[in-house]
Amino acid sequence: MSSCCRPGDYDKVFDEKHARSKARAYARDGLTGDAKRIVELIRGYWGEREAHTPSSGAQRGPREYTVLEVGGGIGEIHLELLKDGAARAVNVELATRYETVAAELIRERGLGDRVERRLGDFVREADGVPEADVVVMHRVVCCYPDADALVGAAADHARRHLVMTIPVDRWWIRRGIAVGNAVLALRRSTFRGYVHATRVVISAAERRGMRLAERRRGLIWQLIALER
Ligand SMILES: C[S@@+](CC[C@H](N)C(=O)[O-])C[C@H]1O[C@@H](n2cnc3c(N)ncnc32)[C@H](O)[C@@H]1O
Repeated sequence: MSSCCRPGDYDKVFDEKHARSKARAYARDGLTGDAKRIVELIRGYWGEREAHTPSSGAQRGPREYTVLEVGGGIGEIHLELLKDGAARAVNVELATRYETVAAELIRERGLGDRVERRLGDFVREADGVPEADVVVMHRVVCCYPDADALVGAAADHARRHLVMTIPVDRWWIRRGIAVGNAVLALRRSTFRGYVHATRVVISAAERRGMRLAERRRGLIWQLIALER
C-alpha cells in the first residue's frame, strides 16, 4: 500500500478558507453538477417504492439506508441524502480543516445524532469503520496515490452501492494534473493529484464482488456507480 503525502499537506490544500467558500456556494446554489447527480442517482436507487413493515403492512415511501462518505469535505452530499431516505451517515476525512464548517452545517440542521465525522486515512482506518448500504467518494480517488487500496476498501464497506467520481483519463487532463503537481512541488508540498486508470478503479471494486451499474462521462469528471 502506498502511503499518502506528508501529514498536514492535505490541510494546506483543503484549508478552512476552502471549506468556508464551499459552504457559501452550497448555501447560495445548493448542490450542483456531479454532487447533484450523485444524490439523484442514490435517491433513484432507494426512493419511492413499496415497503413492508410488520406493524402497518405495505406502505409507500423511501426505504431507509445508511451512508458512508469518504473524503466528503463539508458533507453536503450526505446532508442532502439525510433529508429523505438516509437514516445515518459516517464521514471519514483525511483533511482536518473542514470540521468547524461541517459541524456548523450539522448543528444548523439538527442532525447531530445522525452524522458521525471521523478523521483519518480511510485505507488505514478501514477495519474500524462500519459498513454502509451506500458508499460515496466524490472527487476523492484523484487525491490518493493508491487507487486499488482506496476503492477496494470502499467496495468492502458497500453493502449495496458504491458511487464515485474520478477524472476522465484523457491525455490533456493528465497533462493539467502534471502541471498542477509541478506547482505543488515548487511550493514544497508533497500533496499530489492523480489520474488513475479507469479500469484500475472499476476492477478494484469488481474484485470485491461489485458490478458496474452506471458510467457517465463528462468533459473532465466521470461518475461511476457499482452495485452488488
Ligand atoms: C478534492 S477534495 C473533495 C472533497 C469533497 N468530496 C468535495 O467534492 O468537495 C478530496 C478529499 O478527499 C479526501 N481524501 C483523499 N484520500 C482520502 C482517504 N484515503 N481517506 C479519507 N479522505 C481522503 C481529502 O482529505 C479531501 O478532503
